[in-house]
Amino acid sequence: MNVQNAQLSTKHLLGIKYITTRDIQLIFETADNFKEVINRPIKKVPSLRDVTVANLFFENSTRTRISFELAEKRLSADVVNFSSSSSSVKKGETLLDTVNNILSMKVDMVVMRHPAPGAPIFLSRHIDANIINAGDGTHEHPTQALLDAYSMRKKVGDLKDKKIAIFGDIIHSRVALSNILCLQKLGAKIMVCGPPTLIPKYINKLGVKVSYNVREALQWCDIANILRIQLERQEIKYIPSIREYSLHFGINKALLDSIDKEIIIMHPGPINRGVEITSDVADSQQSIILQQVENGVAIRMAILYLLAAQRQ
Ligand code: CP
Repeated sequence: MNVQNAQLSTKHLLGIKYITTRDIQLIFETADNFKEVINRPIKKVPSLRDVTVANLFFENSTRTRISFELAEKRLSADVVNFSSSSSSVKKGETLLDTVNNILSMKVDMVVMRHPAPGAPIFLSRHIDANIINAGDGTHEHPTQALLDAYSMRKKVGDLKDKKIAIFGDIIHSRVALSNILCLQKLGAKIMVCGPPTLIPKYINKLGVKVSYNVREALQWCDIANILRIQLERQEIKYIPSIREYSLHFGINKALLDSIDKEIIIMHPGPINRGVEITSDVADSQQSIILQQVENGVAIRMAILYLLAAQRQ
C-alpha cells in the first residue's frame, strides 16, 4: 500500500465496527513510520502544525490521555485538555453545549472519552470536527484494540489463524468488543474466557469460542489478553468475591508454567495486581504490557495524521 497517498475510509474513528481491514492496515503501516520517528533523538515532526486538537475526558484515564497528548505534541498540533471533573459540566452544561463552546474556539479534532456508550457517535452527527473515540462506556475502545493488534503483529507477525484468548470481565469491557472486531478483521481466531456471569449472552453472535475454564483457554491460545475486573461497573454481584475470582480465573506463574508452551501475555491496563494477573506474570519475559503502551503513541499518531489528512 502506498501510505503517502492512501486515505482512511472514514472521517471519524468511532469504533472498529465502522472501519475496514484496509483502514487497519493503513493505520499499522503509518504507525511503523511514526515508531521510527519517536525513537529518534528529536521525536517531533511538523505534520499537524496547523491543527488544534481537544482532548475531552469525561471519565478517568492515565494511558489513553497521556498517549494522545504525546502523539499530538509529537505531530506539532496545538493541544487543549478538558476534564469534566473540573469543568462547567459540574454546573449542568450538556455534552453538546460543552463541545460546541470548545469548537467555537476553532478546534479541528476532538478526542473523547465518555461513560455513555455511543456518545462520540451522537457528537459526530452534530459537529464538523473529526472525532476519535477514546473509550465510550462499555461500547468500544478502538485505539486500544488497534494498539493491541499492532503489538501482537510486532511480536508474532501476521495474525491470520493466530489463536487469541481474552480473559475476564467481558460483559463490561469496551476493550473486549473492539479487540474481537479488530482481530477478526485481521483473520485471527478468538476465544473469550471468564465466569458465565461476566460473559454476555450475545457473545455467540460474534463468532467467538467461549470457555469457562482458564486452563483450557490457556492451552488453546497463542496470546492471552487479560482484562481487569471493572470494579466501578459491578452494580450487581457478578462474582461472589474478588478473592474467589482470583482463585478460579486469576492467571499466575504456577498456572502458566504448567502449560506446555510459551504464551504471550497482554493487558490493556490499569492492572489489578493479584486479582486477574499476578505481578510475576505481568512483569515476566512473556509479558508485552509496556510494549503495548509504547506502541499506543505511534498508533495514535497514525490515526491523528490520517484523519487530519482528510481535512485538506
Ligand atoms: N487502557 C486504558 O484505556 O487505560 P486508561 O483508562 O488509563 O486510559
